[in-house]
Amino acid sequence: MSQLSSQDALKAQVAQAALAYVQPHSLIGVGTGSTVNFFIDALAQSAIPVQGAVSSSIASTQRMQALGIPVVDLTDVQSLSVYIDGADEIDSHGYMVKGGGAALTREKIVAAQAKQFVCIVDQSKRVDVMGAFPLPVEVIPMAVPQIIRDFSALGGQAVLRMRDEKPLVTDNGQYILDVHGLKLTEPMALEARISQWPGVVTVGIFAFQKADICLLATPDGVQTLRY
Ligand code: 5RP
Repeated sequence: MSQLSSQDALKAQVAQAALAYVQPHSLIGVGTGSTVNFFIDALAQSAIPVQGAVSSSIASTQRMQALGIPVVDLTDVQSLSVYIDGADEIDSHGYMVKGGGAALTREKIVAAQAKQFVCIVDQSKRVDVMGAFPLPVEVIPMAVPQIIRDFSALGGQAVLRMRDEKPLVTDNGQYILDVHGLKLTEPMALEARISQWPGVVTVGIFAFQKADICLLATPDGVQTLRY
């Protein structure tokens, strides 16, 4: 049996803890990423029946379907009892930076339909001021040069995310800019501002869709932080 790295062991632990937030027979939202993959696996192995799961990415859809979890379309539901997802950074207010897995747009849409956002992270994601992790922004390709200039005016260096020497294309057919060098001291104001730039589809600051609860995996166990 393969040995989990210590970080993966923390992710597995926090994923297991998130099962407590899944009400049997409810509709849930499921995020994207390596921590969420542990959650999907834990949900499939648990005896908790869900009415359906709304997925935030093609990758999570495929993983859930392969494990027999019923995936439903967001357009067919009105409300989700909970949305469970990871984050790249989370601060003391429950504000997050997300999008390391390029799924930020669908993540924000699905999170907005949920009564509760439960963020599952290992302790490396908990920060005082966000910004060390480059801020992901999904953009319309023709707007890339202008948006790079706009970030430059804010003191950030926006870099087009590449895969196999080509721009990475999201599930929505758009590009991702990763913005280095920003300190997110006013996340809500910055989210509101960047969201209005022409060509920005979604900025990876989740201040308006912040976490209600953070399950934080540490070597001493999973802490529950409420905001
Ligand atoms: C994907 C995300 C993920 O939640 C974020 O990147 C964290 O991923 P991981 O659990 O692999 O560290 O926002 O778009």
